[in-house]
Amino acid sequence: MNPFNPSSGHEPRRLRRHPAMRRMLREHHLRATDFILPVFLVEGEGVRTEISSMPGVFRHSIDSALQLCAEAVARGVSGVLLFGVLEEHCKDATGSVSWDAEGLVQRAIRAIRSGYPQLLIIADACFCEYTAHGHCGVLDAGGDRDDYATLENLQRQAISYAEAGVDVVAPSGMVDGMVMAIREALDAARHPQVGILSYAVKYASAFYGPFRDAADSAPQFGDRKGYQMDPANRREAFREMALDIQEGCDMVMVKPAMAYLDVIRDLRERCDLPVLAYQVSGEYSMLQAAARAGWLDLQSSVLESLLGIKRAGADAIITYYALAAADWLG
Ligand code: PBG
Repeated sequence: MNPFNPSSGHEPRRLRRHPAMRRMLREHHLRATDFILPVFLVEGEGVRTEISSMPGVFRHSIDSALQLCAEAVARGVSGVLLFGVLEEHCKDATGSVSWDAEGLVQRAIRAIRSGYPQLLIIADACFCEYTAHGHCGVLDAGGDRDDYATLENLQRQAISYAEAGVDVVAPSGMVDGMVMAIREALDAARHPQVGILSYAVKYASAFYGPFRDAADSAPQFGDRKGYQMDPANRREAFREMALDIQEGCDMVMVKPAMAYLDVIRDLRERCDLPVLAYQVSGEYSMLQAAARAGWLDLQSSVLESLLGIKRAGADAIITYYALAAADWLG
């Protein structure tokens, strides 16, 4: 060992001491354009109600959502992901309001389309927010999801969003064949330009808890383990991804993000399509709670978590922190 240089000349710190060196050699960067903001829509006017389990996130009537869109555009955020939240009396066994041309999401799409054409409009395509039982589709007599009937309704919903002017539909119900069914329906209805962002790899996660509160979409009985993936499975994600690509999706998504960074990396290395990640409600609330208790610094921990998702291989991130993060990045 050289007594004057115990590290024998190997000093990674030489590249860390000077701030300009660190900036120059930084391998990954976050930009406002990486982000997509989820938006919860409700009926009414001037409504902006905070979600108790997601402090800082609100349910918006369409006029208020438009203000949010203005903020997204001003900060350079790429797009919004829309969820409709309905009153109980509007829900039924199939979620039929979700393919009504005058439905809440359809009206919101038209309003955003005309007010903020710069913004990408993505609509979540699922039924748990619209069915009285809270499951992601039609149920059979035994209470199991009837995927065949659900696919037909998914086609109706996707066409209806396309007619309203959506850019991308994002099926999130983990229905086998959903991508092919939607692609065929969109093409047949002459909407070949509408893309499909598949929630290809969606785990049956405890981190959706606050969302179910926000969207009032918790299943009234049972759980979603019969269609969402087991958190223990990594290999199965390849199959889900391959099927969705074969069926014609344009982008694949992994959800949640922070507990599944290995899966994001796996998908990134195994496919050529863009890979998106969803930093879900529970991840938002967890960071928010720790920051509010004074245990974590919000800005640096949120940016670090987003950077980790990007470093894992995500091309874009759906996050409730989209506006805040864009602000912090300047
Ligand atoms: C609808 C849907 C869910 C989320 C997005 N789309 C809930 C679920 O599957 O239970 C969760 C998003 C979040 O937690 O932020 N199927």
